Amino acid sequence: MSNELVIYYSLNNHVRKIVADMPEPKVEITTVKKISKNKVWQMISLGFLVKSNKKLAINELDDIGLEQYDVIHFVTPIWAGKVALPLQAFLEKYPIKNKQVKLTMSCGGGVGESKEAFLKLLDDSNELVAFKVIAGQ
Ligand SMILES: Cc1cc2nc3c(=O)[nH]c(=O)nc-3n(C[C@H](O)[C@H](O)[C@H](O)COP(=O)(O)O)c2cc1C
Repeated sequence: MSNELVIYYSLNNHVRKIVADMPEPKVEITTVKKISKNKVWQMISLGFLVKSNKKLAINELDDIGLEQYDVIHFVTPIWAGKVALPLQAFLEKYPIKNKQVKLTMSCGGGVGESKEAFLKLLDDSNELVAFKVIAGQ
């Protein structure tokens, strides 16, 4: 059986709950700046960042040993029709190559162009082997 690493980001706990049922090992992406819990502020400020292609810095991760894993399973919220900025930042900072990749996205209902945007950030040597949207979150 191939070994799998779950890499996730969660702002408002929906993804955290989804990931709770997944087996270890898991790595959580966190942002350098703390994000307000105010949902209206989140929509306006984070929505603006996504729409204007701005970045959101993430904290360094301890050596996660990506080379040990055959399968990387990303679990992320959708922000403004794209994968949330912290996962975008992760993919830029830690290039993933020659992996089987799974993508699980949590959203309210509008997936937008999030899958396409994710694939653009992923190196061509990877293969997307599973894709799931959990809506109504
Ligand atoms: C800034 C922002 C933008 C969002 N944009 C979308 C969207 O475009 N489509 C959608 O269906 N849900 C959108 N949502 C809702 C989240 O994707 C959804 O609540 C998700 O489950 C949140 O996961 P989390 O609680 O782990 O952070 C947005 C949420 C935030 C904070």
